[in-house]
Amino acid sequence: MQKEYRFYGRRQGRKLSPNKKTAIDNLLPKYEISNNFLAQNSNIDPVDFFDFTPKEIWLEIGFGGGEHLAKQALNNPDIGVIGCEPFINGISRLLTEIEDKNIKNIRIWSEDARIIMNKIKANTISRCFLLHPDPWPKKKHHKRRFIQEETLDMFANLMIKGSELRIATDDSNLADWMLDKIWHHKNFKWLAKKANDWKIRPKDWPETRYGQKQLAGKPVYLRFKKI
Ligand SMILES: C[S@@+](CC[C@H](N)C(=O)[O-])C[C@H]1O[C@@H](n2cnc3c(N)ncnc32)[C@H](O)[C@@H]1O
Repeated sequence: MQKEYRFYGRRQGRKLSPNKKTAIDNLLPKYEISNNFLAQNSNIDPVDFFDFTPKEIWLEIGFGGGEHLAKQALNNPDIGVIGCEPFINGISRLLTEIEDKNIKNIRIWSEDARIIMNKIKANTISRCFLLHPDPWPKKKHHKRRFIQEETLDMFANLMIKGSELRIATDDSNLADWMLDKIWHHKNFKWLAKKANDWKIRPKDWPETRYGQKQLAGKPVYLRFKKI
């Protein structure tokens, strides 16, 4: 049985333009990880999602418009990159980028990331990204935040020992919340040794749309090692 999750985000924003709609209808099936396949299988080796043998598998959760995902895939053609995002307008933007730049190493999961995280075999993911997750500022909504003990256990299960979890946010309350949860999790170690390690975006960390918007303040760039 596939565990059900309640997704609190938006699946669609403004109406898709005819080009974007065509991208979803024609291109998404080419790059999408099938819901049926996932429903019928578990303990899946993520290498099987790709039609080449990737050197490593990376996972991005909530890729938005896919700016970071597309750049990482382009810069690392021997890596297989899985992107999770239920927001159809963002997916259509990424699909256009994949076709324009002829990117071969991206697969898309268009549902809640936790579903696929539960299905992938343990110790198979070499890097995870959670960039500007929704902050859910009201206390009564904190349980909707993506980082929870349960999702940290999922990351820990999927990630290879020594691999990296990268998280960005421009919301200082959310940053404190996430740091507290991760600090208390036995499988993660914060890699920062000095302030600039979290204040300055590393060179191999492309900016996202929300990173540029900086709606709540200056972003922090948090890197954790799976131990
Ligand atoms: C604030 S946006 C940030 C988008 C992008 N990462 C950026 O930095 O521009 C958060 C994104 O996370 C996605 N999201 C929220 N919960 C999710 C979940 N459980 N699984 C996958 N994506 C999720 C939302 O649909 C939304 O697009």
